[in-house]
Amino acid sequence: MQINNEKGSNPVDFTINSMISFTFIFTQSKQGSLTMGSTVNSPSTPIIIPSSPLQTSFIPKTSQLSIFKKKKPFNFASKKLVSCKASDRNQNNADSSSLNRFDRRDILLGLGGLYGATNLVSDPFASAAPIAAPDLSLCENSTVTSSSSGTSISVPCCPPKATNIIDFKPPRFSKIRLRPAAHLVDANYLEKFTKAMELMKALPDDDPRSFKQQANVHCAYCNGAYDHVGFPDQQLQIHFSWLFFPFHRFYLYFYERILGKLIGDPNFAMPFWNWDSPPGMVIPDIYVDPTSPLYDEKRNVDHQPPKMLDLDYVGTEELLSKRDQIKSNLSVMYRQIVTYKTPSLFHGAAYRAGDNPSPGMGSVENNPHTAVHRWVGDKREPFSEDMGNFYSAGRDPLFYAHHCNVDRLWNIWKSLPGKKRTDFTDTDWLDSSFLFYDENANLVRVKVRDCLNSRTLGYDYQKVNIPWLKNKPTPRRPGRGSGSGSAMAAETNTKTVIRNAFPIVLDKLVRIEVPRTKKSRTKVEKENEEEVLVLQNIRLDRDVAVKFDVYINDEDDETPTEPEDSEFAGSFTNIPHSHHNPGVKLDTNLTLPLSDLLEDLDIEGDDNIVVTLVPKEGKGLVSIGNIKIDFVRD
Ligand code: C2O
Repeated sequence: MQINNEKGSNPVDFTINSMISFTFIFTQSKQGSLTMGSTVNSPSTPIIIPSSPLQTSFIPKTSQLSIFKKKKPFNFASKKLVSCKASDRNQNNADSSSLNRFDRRDILLGLGGLYGATNLVSDPFASAAPIAAPDLSLCENSTVTSSSSGTSISVPCCPPKATNIIDFKPPRFSKIRLRPAAHLVDANYLEKFTKAMELMKALPDDDPRSFKQQANVHCAYCNGAYDHVGFPDQQLQIHFSWLFFPFHRFYLYFYERILGKLIGDPNFAMPFWNWDSPPGMVIPDIYVDPTSPLYDEKRNVDHQPPKMLDLDYVGTEELLSKRDQIKSNLSVMYRQIVTYKTPSLFHGAAYRAGDNPSPGMGSVENNPHTAVHRWVGDKREPFSEDMGNFYSAGRDPLFYAHHCNVDRLWNIWKSLPGKKRTDFTDTDWLDSSFLFYDENANLVRVKVRDCLNSRTLGYDYQKVNIPWLKNKPTPRRPGRGSGSGSAMAAETNTKTVIRNAFPIVLDKLVRIEVPRTKKSRTKVEKENEEEVLVLQNIRLDRDVAVKFDVYINDEDDETPTEPEDSEFAGSFTNIPHSHHNPGVKLDTNLTLPLSDLLEDLDIEGDDNIVVTLVPKEGKGLVSIGNIKIDFVRD
């Protein structure tokens, strides 16, 4: 038995239990397809459903992992939204000078009717073109840069070249490999895992299965080593788009198969870092023993256990009590998973062959995925190695536990109620492909369509408590009540309104009034179309760490807005990485769901919302091309 059942069967967190009351309890075996056929004893841990009437619908769906509804493909990243014209690059200087004329901390920008909301619909001109697996023979070294220090290094991270490519077919597995929570594993498991990592590290560097080559897989797919096949000017980037979840799922799959092969145990399953639950909110013990192959010295020295992980990390230490940190982390989780209800909001924007890279991140990739990378990375290193930069992230064994948890959240998201919590049916997504070396050192071409159900790949996750399902954010000023939202929006109209101010450089707090075209929508309308806030053409250097927050109708500057406040709509984040054209900025979009937030703040009837943008890390390094409200139908 690999999993310590004694600990594993009782992962309920007391800190949280003491704060909340519950009315619904049912066992995890009700998660239908998620546990069906499991060959490992699932402890009957209760999933606890909160008593709030707003959340009583949170009964995991019985079987959704393999259901696909026919619907019109939604092309969020239509070419209209993603332009990367060379002429745009010079606009940043102009932006900052126009902004500097106003010597105020808060600037209220009015968009008036200039940027009326339009529906995002399928782009009829979208080319039907899935991203093809890269041509390894054209792989180039990556150039890793740091604009802040002006340093740059060339990193060879191309894989060994093989000419024979096998098309992947999921093998038949006699048993489901159950990935355990890293903080719950027993000595027997740890011994196996340690042995497997030792053997991987002992493989010769040119073996595609070696620790070094496996780390390079991430470097190559994320730092411009490959071009799109047939588009030599377009570098492939598997972050900032709908490729994020499937790419990493396959990456972990082959990593796990290699580890299992090395120890002769085809049922070996990697651990996940359960950072979404209080007992997992520190670096798991098994990774911090300096004599272990799971250890990496390039980690932030101040973040060793028992230091609590901060899922809203901005590069500096926030001195929150343990209890407040847990609350903040669980609120981040709730917002990033529960309030994102459509495939494009969750997975990220469409990204097709020939498209500019990085059209827009999905919820989890943006946050907390980035926060965990940045929190672990060593700030003393020139490029925040290892976890703090894409080129080096795969060199830290903790990376794989981190990404197992990200991958686990994909399964959880699809199991939550909501008819649109499904994967895309767009064949450009389903047929996107990547190359990996498998456990036998064969080069394999995989397609996204083969990874949608983790059980098809032979694995699932140990069931543990999901405490954040009950951490719905609440309005900062309770009792704002019916109608007061409108009053507030009206008040802001009396402030100076600057028109045509976009693009803006985010070097200080900025307020923008954004008009809404549809108000007080019915439940059905809201189910059919999610109202979203879209920040378009967010531009920054790829190699800088950035985080800015987005608040709605929040004008209290005295006390900071926190993730547990309903007004907190989300954040934009960047993990430093590099492409071959350092002068060309990352140009991306951020789409934040608003429906729940508007409801919670009781401002669904308002004509406008006031959007506050607050730079938290990388002040002045980001510009924003436009902000508008839109409606997502996918
Ligand atoms: Cu590919 Cu967490 O990054």
